Amino acid sequence: MKQSSSPSFSSTNVIKCLLLIFAVLVGSCEAQLSTDFYKKACPKVFAAVKSVVAAAVAGEKRMGASLLRLHFHDCFVQGCDGSILLDDTPSFTGEKTAGPNNNSLRGFEVIDRIKSRVESVCPGVVSCADIVAIAARDSVVLLGGPNWEVKVGRRDSKSASLSGANSGALPPPTSTLSNLINRFSAVGLSVRDMVVLSGAHTIGKARCTSFKGRIYNETNIDPTFASKRQANCPFTNGTKRDNNVAPLGHKTPNFFDNSYFGNLLLKKGLLHSDQVLYNGGATDSLVEAYAKNGRSFDKDFVAAMIRMGDIALLTGSKGEIRKNCRKMN
Ligand code: HEM
Ligand SMILES: *[C@@H]1O[C@H](CO)[C@@H](O)[C@H](O)[C@H]1NC(C)=O
Ligand SMILES: *[C@@H]1O[C@H](CO)[C@@H](O)[C@H](O)[C@H]1NC(C)=O
Ligand SMILES: *[C@@H]1O[C@H](CO)[C@@H](O)[C@H](O)[C@H]1NC(C)=O
Repeated sequence: MKQSSSPSFSSTNVIKCLLLIFAVLVGSCEAQLSTDFYKKACPKVFAAVKSVVAAAVAGEKRMGASLLRLHFHDCFVQGCDGSILLDDTPSFTGEKTAGPNNNSLRGFEVIDRIKSRVESVCPGVVSCADIVAIAARDSVVLLGGPNWEVKVGRRDSKSASLSGANSGALPPPTSTLSNLINRFSAVGLSVRDMVVLSGAHTIGKARCTSFKGRIYNETNIDPTFASKRQANCPFTNGTKRDNNVAPLGHKTPNFFDNSYFGNLLLKKGLLHSDQVLYNGGATDSLVEAYAKNGRSFDKDFVAAMIRMGDIALLTGSKGEIRKNCRKMN
């Protein structure tokens, strides 16, 4: 500590230095995200992401839903590490062709546009995993949902897990309630988190193939709603119309609110995995509470999104900051 004798080295600096050493010693310096992680290295990151997301959502409202889902699918497989963004190559297989993702996940071109905007402002600093997390928040806000400060400091993976994405980490729409609970619990999220995060289905769309089994075969469904959905989704498998889409939320697929839960009370959940949340089981009371109280939905949704964004992180010197979100450096 030769420097400590220098008159320009103030006592606040000494304290800061000691605090830093202490933080490193207890290991808390590396392991956590913070909202001001890029304050020095890239103060404009949030504005840069938002401008690109706003343009994309203005062009197509559904893109907001697609970007939100991207963050969920990133976090549930191998953690929030940008693994979902890696393209397949002859020598590498990523997660994009996994059952829940193939012909379903959208928004990769928007992430590319955000990344190049961010790289032009501060090259080599901001991870793709953080970009996905920020874009998810911006999407919710742009569609009328709650705002929150996104914690950042994630790093990008040098790997992906196709088997992880295929083996149920991402629950299928045919999931039972206990399956959903188990899948969220496997990544440290509670039953309440699972229910409130399902409220993301207030926006966006699903393909016929994802809800066919429900609209033709189930009895806990509003009959008028079922026939309306059947009109655009045939019983027969294997036609082009299997890719026809319907809004996940009943009335306002481009507006983020608590109407998802009200729809469940009316037996108008589109996916089997939606209606199981309100079908005489342990989560009925939560659905009723969120249907009644939009403010508590907003509050719990934000808290759960922050927890979801904390799953199995790469921080510190682990992983890398990708230059191109689609491939490792
Ligand atoms: C609880 C378990 C969940 C299941 C079983 C599930 C399943 C699905 C399915 C099957 C689709 C339609 C895919 C298609 O047909 O192409 C979908 C869409 C969507 N999911 Fe989920 N999901 C779940 C949780 C979540 C969570 C936690 C979020 C975000 C926080 C989320 C956000 C979305 C959004 C926004 C869409 C619409 C995407 C678009 O329009 O592009 N989902 N989900
Ligand atoms: C993914 O979708 C493409 C295009 O529809 C299809 O050709 C391919 O077989 C699918 N891959 C998997 C692994 O299901
Ligand atoms: C609905 O149930 C019938 C009879 O159990 C079955 O044959 C059919 O494949 C099911 N359809 C879907 C779309 O799951
Ligand atoms: C359609 O495909 C689903 C999913 O593979 C299957 O469960 C169902 O039995 C099929 N339905 C018919 C009518 O063949």
